[in-house]
Amino acid sequence: MKNLVLIGFMGSGKSLVGRKLATQLNLAFVDTDILIEKKAQQSIRKIFEQTGEAYFRDLETQVIKEVSSKENQVIACGGGAVLRSQNVKALKKKGFLIYLKAPFPILFDRIKYTEDRPLLNVPQPERETKILLASRERIYQSVADMVVDASPPIPEEVVKRIILKLKEGENSEEKNLKRRRL
Ligand code: S3P
Repeated sequence: MKNLVLIGFMGSGKSLVGRKLATQLNLAFVDTDILIEKKAQQSIRKIFEQTGEAYFRDLETQVIKEVSSKENQVIACGGGAVLRSQNVKALKKKGFLIYLKAPFPILFDRIKYTEDRPLLNVPQPERETKILLASRERIYQSVADMVVDASPPIPEEVVKRIILKLKEGENSEEKNLKRRRL
């Protein structure tokens, strides 16, 4: 089966929802941020601090290329993974892109206290994060094969919505899911 690729802004629940979705569908789970940290043997915060965002983005592209060569996975991407068109192209080759969409106040509420997101480490995090989301929303929307409302606070509810939409959807995933008797 094609990979189910979760995209969306920080705080949309890609990792949490992705892990549960993979368990439910009996697929492997991969998280690009975790693979980047493994590759660099450093936390994302340290990578940004010591080598800068451009280097982080190069590692992200490498990791995406690697995971995109396999199938039967749920892939949770970092919020900026779809900024490079080459990443989108690679992910789409064997994957179905699901945009976990939620409004700014919900997203910011979920991420405002985290320390491991370097993009929030700015003088006016709320204002700058809002600008960042506004600049990215169009990209998420345009590259997505499917959009799911990720505002429910319970990840299981978002998983349910994804599965329902995949079943309803007139796309090739429907047949695969039916084959998996879901
Ligand atoms: C980023 C999002 C982060 C992580 C890095 C950059 C972004 O992942 O990849 O800090 O550019 O939006 P999450 O979306 O999982 O927080």
